[in-house]
Amino acid sequence: MWIELLISRNPLRPEPNPRDREIDMRRFLFFLAVGAWAVTQGVAEEDFVTIWPENPVVEFGGSLVLNCSASCENIGLETIFTRVPSGNGSNWKAFRLSNVSDWGPRPLCYASCGSGQKNSPMANIIIYKLPDSITLDQIPKMEVGKPYDLTCQVSGVAPIQNLTVTLLKGTEQLLAKTFENHTAPGVGRVVVKHTIIAQRNDHKKTVTCQTSLDLNPRGPLLKNTSHNMSLESFDFAGTPQLHAGLFLEAGTKMTVTCNTSEVSPAKEAAFDLWFAGKPLTLNTRVTGGVASAQAVVIPSSVGEHELLCNISLGPVTKNVKKMVNVFGASHICNC
Ligand SMILES: *[C@@H]1O[C@H](CO)[C@@H](O)[C@H](O)[C@H]1NC(C)=O
Ligand SMILES: *[C@@H]1O[C@H](CO)[C@@H](O)[C@H](O)[C@H]1NC(C)=O
Ligand SMILES: *[C@@H]1O[C@H](CO)[C@@H](O)[C@H](O)[C@H]1NC(C)=O
Repeated sequence: MWIELLISRNPLRPEPNPRDREIDMRRFLFFLAVGAWAVTQGVAEEDFVTIWPENPVVEFGGSLVLNCSASCENIGLETIFTRVPSGNGSNWKAFRLSNVSDWGPRPLCYASCGSGQKNSPMANIIIYKLPDSITLDQIPKMEVGKPYDLTCQVSGVAPIQNLTVTLLKGTEQLLAKTFENHTAPGVGRVVVKHTIIAQRNDHKKTVTCQTSLDLNPRGPLLKNTSHNMSLESFDFAGTPQLHAGLFLEAGTKMTVTCNTSEVSPAKEAAFDLWFAGKPLTLNTRVTGGVASAQAVVIPSSVGEHELLCNISLGPVTKNVKKMVNVFGASHICNC
């Protein structure tokens, strides 16, 4: 191209004077020198050292093959991992690295090139590890309207930067947490927390904690799930009622009923009835959202006796009492 430049100048100057000719000659020599330098550089540029694959993905403790190719002699691989030669050719050498489980310096390929030191390419390895455990903390029996923490702990996982932890209630996603800003390399542990306000329809819903380790585009998307945890949600806003007579003749039967509305799930309400400190045998039932228990009292001793009804539902227990006056048969005769 520089020759063309010199020649193309000539038509512009039909009669170049000797001085101009001298300048042209100097230019010619200068370009010749530059050209020769460019040619030697061009040859040197053909020297290369490469590593393959450049971005491998390997499971924690697993193995992989790295292949170093070069146009030069004495090809080698520098690494902290255990390695064995795994094939060679005229311009390449492959190595199998095993027990890849450390976040140390990256492996690099080298070779001695006559033209001087070449850049030593490094393999940027992603070491991944599926979680050792995904644990959902136990959730207590819940009362509708009150807050409860759902806590999921994921341990023994890497790389945390590629991890998403998702909390689900049934099919509803409550939270999806990522850790892009996590800096510590290696296997680690994360804890994810989410507060829910207990709802009536949460009862018997399943909570799960899912992890996904997304190694795309270099590797797969790996998912795991915790065990299922069943929610128990109770609503007991009602006030228990006790239906019983206040006076009763000793030795006679009286049917007593204890019930409550505003109770959910009504069929899970547990009743206890006591008369004069003794438990009564009872029948329970649920009709139209009202839970009730019935028992028969046959008092043998006269006096004031306490009738007690206890209702418990999940974490809530309520009770109602009544005093019953038991009188003797002789009392009637005196009337
Ligand atoms: C290593 O790379 C060279 C050059 O790219 C190739 O010819 C050779 O088959 C590769 N060897 C292995 C084991 O991958
Ligand atoms: C190349 O591989 C052969 C076996 O396939 C082995 O005998 C030889 O030592 C290797 N050469 C180098 C330089 O590693
Ligand atoms: C995660 O999933 C993998 C494969 O799907 C399985 O082998 C492993 O046991 C799971 N780990 C946990 C903690 O569930």
